[in-house]
Amino acid sequence: MIGLLEAPSADAEAAVAAPDSCTLDHYLSQPDDTMDARIAAARATLGTDVVLLGHHYQRDEVIRFADFTGDSYKLSRIAADTSAKYMLFCGVHFMAETADILAKPWQHVILPDLNAGCSMADMAEIGQVEDCWDSLERAGVTSGSSDKAGLIPLTYMNSAASIKAFCGERGGLVCTSSNARGAFEWAFARGEKILFLPDQHLGRNTAFAMGIPISEMVVWDPYQINGGVAPDRLKAARVILWKGHCSVHQRFLPEHVDRVRREEPGMQVIVHPECRWEVCQKADELGSTERIIDYIEKAPAGSSFAVGTEIHLVNRLAKRFAPLGKRVITLDDSGCLCTTMYRISPQHLAWSLENLVAGRVVNRIKVAEDVKQWAKVALDRMLEVR
Ligand code: 13P
Ligand code: SF4
Repeated sequence: MIGLLEAPSADAEAAVAAPDSCTLDHYLSQPDDTMDARIAAARATLGTDVVLLGHHYQRDEVIRFADFTGDSYKLSRIAADTSAKYMLFCGVHFMAETADILAKPWQHVILPDLNAGCSMADMAEIGQVEDCWDSLERAGVTSGSSDKAGLIPLTYMNSAASIKAFCGERGGLVCTSSNARGAFEWAFARGEKILFLPDQHLGRNTAFAMGIPISEMVVWDPYQINGGVAPDRLKAARVILWKGHCSVHQRFLPEHVDRVRREEPGMQVIVHPECRWEVCQKADELGSTERIIDYIEKAPAGSSFAVGTEIHLVNRLAKRFAPLGKRVITLDDSGCLCTTMYRISPQHLAWSLENLVAGRVVNRIKVAEDVKQWAKVALDRMLEVR
């Protein structure tokens, strides 16, 4: 068990498979704490047939059952390597889709609640991205020189499989927050410009850290004609940023950093690169969720941190590091929650597992084969980049 929290031990009795009549609604009407023993028992029955993957933002009552916890990059590597027949993804839809793309044909990926989406991923639809590319073609931005492409499409993992496929088919790739810089370098070695989807903040923060000035970046708004960008600015830009953002991380503001500086002298500010550029500029460190954890882990006793990321992770870090003499607080005391990931509850977990015990696969995430083919190309390129 590699989860941050200890899972309750399996009940002595074997799991009771969900009877045919047992609907999800029935589970949802039961209290949380009645699910623990059922989840543990179903897992014990399924043994190594099932692996539970949990993203760091998942709530405590669910993540404590995870066999593996991680950020998007780490979980996608685990999904590519595991030989379990069933992968239960306690994360959001695009993570489960990614696991299915990387899985072997005989593996099944399950998302315990199909409503666990991602508001950022929803900000880029494939039709909009195709329209954008057509406009960029008409503007002469996609054609390059003899040794380089004009434009490389690069998408954040937090996007639909169809967009990953779009990038793979056009010589581009996928990145996560932990290898965005490597992916930008990969793309600039092959093309003159990058179209970065769908998180403008991660794109801006990454490009700026590589020395690209803000004046050489433009924001493409899919709801405006020609993205709302004048042709001369488009031609001069090195990075075209899609107008998308994470509703959790965008809530952190520069004044939150100012307050920590004023009220907590000596405290380090560490934020996720999905935060606004203005916040990242004021922070001491930037990092994916895995890197944030690693940074605090390696810090000496007596260190203190204000962390700008999802509140479940921040609260767990505060609890875990307090006995080691490290203080962790959230950068914004209203505490930003990923409401979509939060949808996965112990009841959804018990329902999915007990159905598996009964031989039924519920909420399977299956990416269409034609999409899978190019999305895998883009993901395989990502897995080569660090
Ligand atoms: P990482 O998992 O790459 O840190 O990204 C955080 C996130 O917002 C996932 O949706
Ligand atoms: Fe999407 Fe933001 Fe939630 Fe991550 S934290 S899943 S980017 S809404």
